Amino acid sequence: MKLLFEEAKLGKIVLKNRFVRSATWENMTTEDGHLTKELINIYENLAKSEMGLIITGYANVMKEEQPNHGMMGIYDDSFINEYKKLTELVHKFDSKIIMQVAYGGTKTTYNVGKRLIYAPSEIAEQSTNVVGKAMTKEDIDLVINAFVDAAKRIQESGFDGIEIHAAHTYLINQFLSSYYNKRTDEYGGSLENRMRFLVEIYNKTREKVGNDFTIVVKLTSSEFFEGGMTFDETRLICRELESIGVDAIDITGNIHGKAKSMIGEAFDGYELQKEGYFVEYAKVISDEVSIPTISVGGFKDISKIENILNESNIEFFALSRPLLAEPNLIKRWKSGDKKSAICISCSKCRTDQGNYCVVFNKKNN
Ligand SMILES: Cc1cc2nc3c(=O)[nH]c(=O)nc-3n(C[C@H](O)[C@H](O)[C@H](O)COP(=O)(O)O)c2cc1C
Repeated sequence: MKLLFEEAKLGKIVLKNRFVRSATWENMTTEDGHLTKELINIYENLAKSEMGLIITGYANVMKEEQPNHGMMGIYDDSFINEYKKLTELVHKFDSKIIMQVAYGGTKTTYNVGKRLIYAPSEIAEQSTNVVGKAMTKEDIDLVINAFVDAAKRIQESGFDGIEIHAAHTYLINQFLSSYYNKRTDEYGGSLENRMRFLVEIYNKTREKVGNDFTIVVKLTSSEFFEGGMTFDETRLICRELESIGVDAIDITGNIHGKAKSMIGEAFDGYELQKEGYFVEYAKVISDEVSIPTISVGGFKDISKIENILNESNIEFFALSRPLLAEPNLIKRWKSGDKKSAICISCSKCRTDQGNYCVVFNKKNN
């Protein structure tokens, strides 16, 4: 029997348990993405509360490309010293921390019109209606290099690894999607071509950080709309990522705000679940690749998570909103209080004063 509170290997890192704080943009940095006391407290509290692995909120790899206010930056060397302190702090409590990197692209309403926003093709993003500049080969190289330079800084800052955000309709996801990617060059058309941008980011990052650094890729299970990326495509991408050396796959959906209301609906032949919205998809992936699969979305009941662990090959379980409501949730479960998370998944946690649980009023924890 596999246990949630046992050591488990994720890439080159050994975690003390199978719980992961899913990447959560906190909206608590300075204007240019530097750490604040408030944000450091969040990470200290998570580390103190028995998190096996903390994934940071998405960090922007290019200064001019900031899809949201208050997100962490990793676009130049000025961040390295403060992140060294952050990673040392987290490690003091025997927790591990990896940084998530993203290029947002057109899934944004922040500062639109005031900055250049790249996209694979000039297709309006469905939720924001924003149209980006179709990238030239030079633009593609520029963004790839920005990811690679960011990865080097992340390594120098003492993080245990990096998560490449290839989901949630951000730029990499758009390249993978035949809805958003209408290119006719080697980056569009066949799935192999649509994957090229992600594969090049990964390969060049790996070259830069070496084989001992853990690289996770976050992917959507499906785009959940007609004409979008399908689960069958995601399955093929996962196999390709495994073959080129990616250490773990984090399976999500593009619909985390709406998923709760879609429970029971089936897409691509699989049903959204109440406990772990995307578990059915993650189960399939975990059977098809031998690298670890992380499942995220809608986990609240530890007994059910334990069943999923033992009935599938999913090895890690990531949570976001429940930890905003109860930063000490994992510690509570470990201590034997196995009541479900109090989070009601209302998704009201994004506020102009920082992202926190407005229902249980957990600002500053
Ligand atoms: C306030 C907030 C910020 C988020 N920021 C990120 C992020 O930076 N990167 C990311 O991949 N997902 C982000 N997510 C999505 C979560 O990681 C997670 O996939 C989603 O909330 C579903 O998990 P949950 O049911 O445990 O909350 C965010 C979610 C919330 C509520």
